[in-house]
Amino acid sequence: MKRKPIKKIGVLTSGGDCPGLNAVIRGVVRAAAEREWEVLGFTDGYEGMITPVRYRRLDAAGIDDIMAMGGTILGTTNKGRFVAKVGEGNKAVIPRAILSEARETFEGLGLDALVCIGGDGSLSTALQLQEAGIPVVGVPKTIDNDLNATAMTFGFDSAVAVVVDALDRLHTTARSHKRLMVVEVMGRHAGWIALHGGLGGGADAILIPEIPYRMDKLVQFVKNRTQDGFGSTMVVVAEGAKEQGKKLATKEAKLRDAGEVRLGGIGEQLAVALEAATGQEARSVSLGHLQRGGTPSALDRILATRFGVGAVRLIEQRRFGQMVSYLRYHVGGVPIAKAVGTLRTVDPGCETVAAARSVGICFGDD
Ligand code: F6P
Repeated sequence: MKRKPIKKIGVLTSGGDCPGLNAVIRGVVRAAAEREWEVLGFTDGYEGMITPVRYRRLDAAGIDDIMAMGGTILGTTNKGRFVAKVGEGNKAVIPRAILSEARETFEGLGLDALVCIGGDGSLSTALQLQEAGIPVVGVPKTIDNDLNATAMTFGFDSAVAVVVDALDRLHTTARSHKRLMVVEVMGRHAGWIALHGGLGGGADAILIPEIPYRMDKLVQFVKNRTQDGFGSTMVVVAEGAKEQGKKLATKEAKLRDAGEVRLGGIGEQLAVALEAATGQEARSVSLGHLQRGGTPSALDRILATRFGVGAVRLIEQRRFGQMVSYLRYHVGGVPIAKAVGTLRTVDPGCETVAAARSVGICFGDD
């Protein structure tokens, strides 16, 4: 049977923004233009697909200059009617009426496929749209690098570069004042940013959600350093890191739309506690959304472009329900279902953690 030719596709960005989103959009639009497909970009994530429907036509000339831009020209949201994540890995069911309305919009605009660029929650939504009759392909996105079935997501390298640059700057002031410096970075369930940023930026201690730390071990580590003649100590802590037997540091008591609570504050808490226990003056810095903003690194621009092109290839091959993934230096496709539901966290026994320990980095557990 002859397949219906692809003529028109939609694209959207969903969830927290991240450097490289525009480079993916550019990759999709350019690869589509090569095939003479039309591209419509929905605004504000999946929300643009339902009342009030919002989209714009994307042509290759119009998106020529977006590669190096941070954020997303299409807008995004991690709230609203399509949120499909409740805490780690749980799938929330999106009401049938919302899914049907999105399908009506899709069909009404004469679209043949939809490219959904997002993280764990947004790709869970993509799967539900697929089940509701919209042919989707996914593009994995998150600075946290915690998606399964891909060795890397774009945005991560740029976020790590921000952390390394911040540590370079903070080392000079910490050493001058012989202070303890605690730097809080993003990473709700996974410590990839803290681990890689800390390693690349010369941190002395790295605290991640996967390795609950003990305060007495950390205090002893700082005291030993002082005794050994080190004037300052640099601690990198992921926002989701936890002291053994204690609760997460949160900014709000109530759960948000996505069933998640806003994290933050562990850096300041640690600085206060470490100063009290060691007698060394301490300061804390939270890098927050600086890690998500700004221009993508070279590596992220290249990966994002390859992902955009890969998404178009998946559509061409009618591999709907799949997402592009980067495995063994190759961009291919895997079922979205393999990527969502559980997060890819740092294995405490992995070679990177072992290498960090081998250069004397303390994880607060021994
Ligand atoms: O993209 C994931 C993430 O960066 C988490 O590490 C962080 O907890 C969250 O986004 C913050 O999101 P928001 O933009 O809602 O503050």
